[in-house]
Amino acid sequence: MSTSTAEHSPGRAAADRIAARARQLTKAYGSGETAVLALDSVDVDIARGRFTAVMGPSGSGKSTLMHCLAGLDTVSAGQVWLGDTEITGLKDRELTRLRRDRIGFMFQSFNLIPTLNAAENITLPMDIAGQKPDQKWLDQVIDTLGLRDRLKHRPSQLSGGQQQRVACARALASRPELIFADEPTGNLDSRAGLEVLGFLRNAVDDLGQTVVMVTHDPGAAAHSDLVIFLGDGRIVDEMERPTAEGVLERMKRFDLTRSAFDGAAENTSDVTLDKD
Ligand SMILES: Nc1ncnc2c1ncn2[C@@H]1O[C@H](COP(=O)(O)OP(=O)(O)OP(=O)(O)O)[C@@H](O)[C@H]1O
Ligand SMILES: [Mg+2]
Repeated sequence: MSTSTAEHSPGRAAADRIAARARQLTKAYGSGETAVLALDSVDVDIARGRFTAVMGPSGSGKSTLMHCLAGLDTVSAGQVWLGDTEITGLKDRELTRLRRDRIGFMFQSFNLIPTLNAAENITLPMDIAGQKPDQKWLDQVIDTLGLRDRLKHRPSQLSGGQQQRVACARALASRPELIFADEPTGNLDSRAGLEVLGFLRNAVDDLGQTVVMVTHDPGAAAHSDLVIFLGDGRIVDEMERPTAEGVLERMKRFDLTRSAFDGAAENTSDVTLDKD
């Protein structure tokens, strides 16, 4: 057993086990009265080779956290590492290359290029990077996601769910070591959603990939190894080996706390507090 000091210091520590790490990650949008603190001193370790789900109410900072971890957005304060590379402070070009080589991102909005067909959209990041796709892997991705007969279609000719599957295929095409997926099943029917989840699960179990997924769906979260709960820009809880029931229970408690708090804040003038 090794408990060297390096293992306990952020950054280079245990880089083989940590795919992404944030320390005191803070992100504010705007300034003055309109400023929003989207992330408030978040510390998080994303374990390599695991499937992590991120949950929390709308506006709690889930997308912002993923964007900052993936180097897609700058941070206001704090540090972020991908593996043993600190990305906060990297120059744009270095960051672009690192993202391109190591990260797949499925955005909440699909970000497909309207003038390219599905097949071209899927391989676009690799084409830009001058990389040749592994055809066998690509075929597996395309077939699993049921896109074989839609490859020649442009995004406007695809349903929302099909567009989501194209975005999913694009993120997986280069077999990135770290996949961030922002509500990948949000627009899918339950069968297609289950397939995407199964695919992500297999990518972790069989290929050792690392997946971080935002979801509002307890059933989807139950496919993960660990759920991280965000509330108002902070990590408020986590759950290992989640079940749908357990996650639902946790969310209910969270909602109750929230509405009790909101209600109290809104109704301070007409609420009759327990007398004492
Ligand atoms: N570009 C921006 N400019 C200003 N405020 C922003 C911006 N992006 C996000 N925010 C604010 O930051 C907070 C967190 O937003 P974020 O998109 O991370 O939430 P989320 O948890 O992903 O929500 P949802 O479940 O609705 O997608 C919100 O209050 C949001 O209004
Ligand atoms: Mg979001």
